[in-house]
Amino acid sequence: KLFRIASIPGDGIGTEVTEAAIQVLQKLAEVDGTFHFEFEHFDWSSKNFKERGYYIPPDGIDQLKKFNAILFGAVGSPDSNKGQTQAKATDTKRLPDVPDHISLWGLMLPLRNSLTQYVNVRPTRILRGTSSPLRAEVCGPKDLDWVIIRENSEGEYSGHGGTTHAASGNAVATEVSIFTQVGIERIMRFAFDTAMLRPRKKLTMVTKSNAQRHGMVLWDQIFHEVKKEYPDVETDKMLVDAMTVRMTLKPQTLDTIVATNLHADILSDLAAALSGSIGIAPSSNLDPTRKHPSMFEPIHGSAPDIAGQGIANPVGAFWSAAEMVRWLGLEEVADKLMECIENVTEAGPRTRDLGGSANTKEVTEAVCNEIEKQ
Ligand code: NAI
Ligand code: MG
Repeated sequence: KLFRIASIPGDGIGTEVTEAAIQVLQKLAEVDGTFHFEFEHFDWSSKNFKERGYYIPPDGIDQLKKFNAILFGAVGSPDSNKGQTQAKATDTKRLPDVPDHISLWGLMLPLRNSLTQYVNVRPTRILRGTSSPLRAEVCGPKDLDWVIIRENSEGEYSGHGGTTHAASGNAVATEVSIFTQVGIERIMRFAFDTAMLRPRKKLTMVTKSNAQRHGMVLWDQIFHEVKKEYPDVETDKMLVDAMTVRMTLKPQTLDTIVATNLHADILSDLAAALSGSIGIAPSSNLDPTRKHPSMFEPIHGSAPDIAGQGIANPVGAFWSAAEMVRWLGLEEVADKLMECIENVTEAGPRTRDLGGSANTKEVTEAVCNEIEKQ
């Protein structure tokens, strides 16, 4: 069986970890022999944006629609991050910066939106051989095992709003969150379905419905309605501020979590840090209707502070690749890849963020060796 995969490495360490993930996927296919991957690369980087004026060419989305899945790295131009890889002020050849809101809205958000990837799934657990920065009494190796379901199409990242009165010296900006019944219902159903498939069958819904009295109250109401269809799922509700405390102090009380675009964005970075490193955390941008290809990417960004050094942890990209393989229907292959990844997180080599000293290449080779051994 042949799977056609579009690769969009993007910027910074996005390119480094995507290359590593492709190497691992090719090795899996080579060793297995029953399936193949064919990769096509799309260089929609910030460098190209600076030269051409766009990230995605006019027919770019249509081109992607013929693929079975998309592997994404990260987007974020190094120059726009102060104090990091800044070019010298005297360098006249220096191209203009790309502010983060331009790069995110130029590449990643249009992909998620136009491919109807309305679910973002972010599993987090403590991989073998790694540990949480939380004290062992609070968080043993099995105490943190969550999957965060992030609403990926509306809410706080709807892009509505504007800035007026800029000339008056008191600019006024609005940032409008949009919540729709259809949008909320579909993410709730996905979250309940996910919870049903997990051993603990437990779902926590996160809002801020005390202070935000419209959209968040609608979330509460729809949660209450959809819940009736899933009597086997144990549920509870949290306000997002208190949720950070619960994640940090009682990680074992949580399992599946559903939250808005912004809240889940923040909570999933916290979750990744609590599980050991942002460098290991995967995400799947899913179109559950399977009309369009889904997109798989580590949750981290382009990491300008370490980009170009070859030291990024590729495990988040590997785990994302495993989620892609699972979505493509190769369950056993996905399990095998996770096993190989964890053999390496356990025995080493490990990158610096996990307390080791290895580089990206060494970790990639170690995972490829594990695949060959299986
Ligand atoms: P970041 O995730 O790129 O980096 C945060 C910190 O974690 C840095 O110290 C970095 O070195 C470290 N880190 C991240 N991934 C790592 C890995 N695989 N191995 C080892 N260390 C790792 O977040 P930051 O610095 O806020 O954003 C940098 C750029 O990335 C910005 O332009 C931002 O807009 C963009 N970004 C893009 C995302 C995407 O494309 N999905 C997501 C988040 C940020
Ligand atoms: Mg994020």
